[in-house]
Amino acid sequence: MSESRPVAAAADSGVCELRFTLNNKPCCVTAAPEASLLEVLRMEIGLMGTKGACLEGECGSCTVLVDGVPVNSCLIMAGQIQGRSVTTIEGLASADDGTLDILQRKFIETGAVQCGYCTPGLILAAHQLLTRPGVATEEDFLTALEGNICRCTGYENILKAVRGAWRETHPDDAGGAQ
Ligand code: FES
Ligand code: FES
Repeated sequence: MSESRPVAAAADSGVCELRFTLNNKPCCVTAAPEASLLEVLRMEIGLMGTKGACLEGECGSCTVLVDGVPVNSCLIMAGQIQGRSVTTIEGLASADDGTLDILQRKFIETGAVQCGYCTPGLILAAHQLLTRPGVATEEDFLTALEGNICRCTGYENILKAVRGAWRETHPDDAGGAQ
């Protein structure tokens, strides 16, 4: 199916019809063309786990995965997700039994959460790093999180959580994540 046809067909009504994959399930929703992905997720779909703060790409609170890549959803226009795959924090735990994703577990175990506002964005920002094979340096961990601001916990436990998740998913990387 053409990706552009539904947007064009709905343009006359002032809304666009979006068909995309959301947390591994097909999703269809209408939205104003100027709406951001953040607005679509929260206001149209009701997934409140993705947080908005600066709304200008500076804080990372609104990070989601689009086709597996972390993006600031406040900067993505609704029409850009047509036919793509979007993952939010609600989609990380197992759909079968609710088992938490390893990063979610590590954030809890290490006390890397205080108010929690930044947490979904941090976890999704770090998620891509864990899909990478091989070894990781401290710089890799810092780079994965560099676009995400936490205003209250401090980064020590956050980094500890991400290193712990890396160690568990990369047991052969003896030199990394110390
Ligand atoms: S709300 Fe999107 S980067 Fe801050
Ligand atoms: S835990 Fe409060 S902003 Fe990070």
